[in-house]
Formats: sequence, structure tokens, C-alpha cells
Amino acid sequence: MSESTSALWAVTGAAGYLRSHVVDTLLARGTPVLAVDDFSVGRREFLAAHRENPLFHLVEADVRDAAGMSSLFKMYHCASVVHLAAIHYIPACNVDPPRAVSLNVHRSQSVLTAARVAKVERFWLASSGDVYGASDTPHREEDQPAPFAVYGLTKWLGEQLVGLESQQRPEARFVVGRLFNLYGPRETNPYFLPECLASSGPTLRQHFGSAVSGQSVTWFPLLTPPGHWSIPWMPPRSG
Ligand SMILES: NC(=O)c1ccc[n+]([C@@H]2O[C@H](COP(=O)([O-])OP(=O)(O)OC[C@H]3O[C@@H](n4cnc5c(N)ncnc54)[C@H](O)[C@@H]3O)[C@@H](O)[C@H]2O)c1
Repeated sequence: MSESTSALWAVTGAAGYLRSHVVDTLLARGTPVLAVDDFSVGRREFLAAHRENPLFHLVEADVRDAAGMSSLFKMYHCASVVHLAAIHYIPACNVDPPRAVSLNVHRSQSVLTAARVAKVERFWLASSGDVYGASDTPHREEDQPAPFAVYGLTKWLGEQLVGLESQQRPEARFVVGRLFNLYGPRETNPYFLPECLASSGPTLRQHFGSAVSGQSVTWFPLLTPPGHWSIPWMPPRSG
């Protein structure tokens, strides 16, 4: 599947922390963007710089409205969806697990269904390193997921919804990215890293220094070259 920078990408929840960086990066390379957010957490000022850009389209909508989302995807001839919307703040998920499951799982299925109806060719889901179990040793990508909290479980369920969809739509491309902790400008949630660093030794401070000094989170795995999209979705191993 060839990648064209002129094909429009939809970014769900585009006014949040990571997604506003994704929008910046896509527009900088000349890709038109449909930014969707309900502004429950995201901030309009994160996207303010793009208001006059003819490649930028902002729609206030709840992504749980699958019919509304498919109409939008069709109207804008959307070629790719980057689905980042989720309750990401883990303490909020722990306080209200039914809400976390309802929003994170329902949301992903709504956007998958909308993408199917609108025949969107590519779908990228933000999952999390929280799908893995707690461990004192570094995780490897092929480790068996074993979520130990409701947030990670909602992400794992989202991955499996993507897996099912990819089996049913072999003509489309689906990619799941398991993001670990990211930190930088435009963070929307309270973050443990500054506190952790304040009480840490010089090695840790040196390691994280650039992030803490405010350098931008411009790294983002889905914005890698077109070949990235040829990676097939890997079914989860059972066990
Ligand atoms: N930030 C990290 O370190 C990290 C690590 C692992 C995974 N992730 C994942 O990456 C994604 C992005 O994380 P983030 O830090 O940018 O989150 P964030 O909390 O900053 O942004 C959430 C955004 O989604 C919007 N939103 C919420 N419900 C919506 C709805 N129903 N319809 C439309 N928009 C809605 C909010 O208004 C907000 O703009 C999430 O899926 C998260 O789970 C993030």
C-alpha cells in the first residue's frame, strides 16, 4: 500500500497531549488532518496555531458516536485513522473502573466500526506498556500481556478488538503501538516524573534531563516511513 502525504488522516481526541504533537507533525509534512475531540480533557490552545491552516479541519465530536464518525470519515475522504482517545490517567481509571471500560473499550470499537463503514484503509491504535505484568526486568515486545490494573486491561481489550477487525478486513492495515511513559510539553495529566527526579540521583536526572527541560515529544512511532504500515497485526498468543 503506498503512502501519499496528500491523503487525509483523522486523529481522534486531537487536543490531548500526544495527539496534538501528532497533528503538528502531520501538518508539517503536508498531510491534511481531521482533528476530532470532545474537549473533555484536551485543550483548544494546543491546536490554536493551526486554525488558519487550510490542511487542518477541527470537529468537536464524541468518538463513541460511530454513525457520526463514519459520516465524518466519509465526508473528509479519510485514508488513515490514528486512534488515541482514551482515559489515560491511571488513578482516574482505578477510581471508576466501569467508566474506564465503557470509555476506553466502547470508544475503540466505535472508531473501528466507523472506519469499516467509511472504508478507511489504515488504522493505528495507541495501546500501552501497561498491558504487560509488573516486572523487575525489562519487558520484551513478545512477552505475554498480563494487565494488573483496569487501564492496562482496557488497552489489551482494545488490541483484541483491532485484531478481530484485522481478520475481518484483510484489505486494510491495522497497527497497534504499545507506548510506554512519555513526558514533555502539553501534558494534560499530573505526572510522576518531575517528583521522581527531584528525589533521584544524578544518573536518572541525566537520563531524563532533556525531557524534563521541556524538549518536545516529537518522536512518535506511527509517523515512521510508509513501510511501517506493511507490518501485519500480530494475533495475541494465548496462554
Ligand atoms: N502519555 C503517555 O505516556 C502514554 C503512554 C501509553 C499510552 N498512551 C496512550 O496514548 C493515547 C494518548 O494519550 P494522551 O497522554 O495524549 O492522553 P490525554 O489524556 O492527554 O488526551 C485525551 C484526549 O481525548 C479526548 N477525548 C476523551 N474522550 C473523548 C471522546 N469520547 N471523544 C472525543 N475525544 C475524547 C480528550 O478531550 C483529550 O483531548 C491514549 O490512548 C493513552 O492511553 C499514552
